[in-house]
Amino acid sequence: MPFDFNGKKVLVTGAGGGIGRALAIALNEAGCKVYALSRTKSTLDSLVAEHPKIVPIIADVSNWNDTRRKLEDLEPLDGLVNNAGILEEMCPAIDCPKDNIVTVLNTNLLGAINCAQVVAKKMIDSKVKGSIVNISSVAGIGAFPTNLSYNVSKAGLDMVTKQFALELGPYQIRVNSVNPTLVMTPLVTNLKEGLAYEKVFNARTPMSRVAKVEEIVGPILYLLSDYSSMVSGQMHPVDGGLLSNIAVKV
Ligand SMILES: NC(=O)c1ccc[n+]([C@@H]2O[C@H](COP(=O)([O-])OP(=O)(O)OC[C@H]3O[C@@H](n4cnc5c(N)ncnc54)[C@H](OP(=O)(O)O)[C@@H]3O)[C@@H](O)[C@H]2O)c1
Repeated sequence: MPFDFNGKKVLVTGAGGGIGRALAIALNEAGCKVYALSRTKSTLDSLVAEHPKIVPIIADVSNWNDTRRKLEDLEPLDGLVNNAGILEEMCPAIDCPKDNIVTVLNTNLLGAINCAQVVAKKMIDSKVKGSIVNISSVAGIGAFPTNLSYNVSKAGLDMVTKQFALELGPYQIRVNSVNPTLVMTPLVTNLKEGLAYEKVFNARTPMSRVAKVEEIVGPILYLLSDYSSMVSGQMHPVDGGLLSNIAVKV
């Protein structure tokens, strides 16, 4: 990757596995000081063992107060990637239990708002022209069956992007969403429907395939970098054309 993040400091949430881990490694290799936040100590331990310059933060973003305390101790940052996200049990919208909705919103939506508030305040106070990237989903733009809580959380996250972009723009802080299509990370492969989803997405996607982790990491690096210095408040579907297609592939 041709990105140079020397001298930059970026916090990645959900950095223990999947997209977040690959992003933390790519940023580290591009010279960035990376704060890697995740909830499971063992995955962060292995990340730091492989990449000793990465600074681990063990926190569960669904715990508002604990996460806030930990982030308030950090130095001002140049970037934040709100990547931590979960899926709960799939169920029809009319039967979706309140616990399922509350659990998903607490991590995917409130967790991101909390981190953005703390990091953005420090950016403003220290006059950093920072960049915040929210990892949303194509499922925040188009409905996908039996996934009410997740889809609503990602649609809400896209509004977080627009709202923060509006209010932080005067400080030259940019806020954007990346909206990936399916990526075969543990989030998906741990689901019993995971492999079936890959077939469904392949059938609707003009490029006939799902995304690789590095194909999501690249656009995130772009949005964190000065190459996107006038891009703010935008959704960035990374979907092989999926959302532009209203038919099963011809
Ligand atoms: N994979 C896809 O198809 C896809 C598509 C569109 C959007 N996305 C979005 O991309 C982001 C990353 O997904 P992924 O596929 O890389 O997921 P993943 O493989 O499940 O990895 C997610 C990472 O986030 C951590 N995490 C989860 N909840 C957390 C919390 N409350 N606090 C702190 N860390 C937490 C997990 O920690 P543990 O190790 O403790 O579980 C894990 O390390 C998510 O926001 C997801 O919604 C994914």
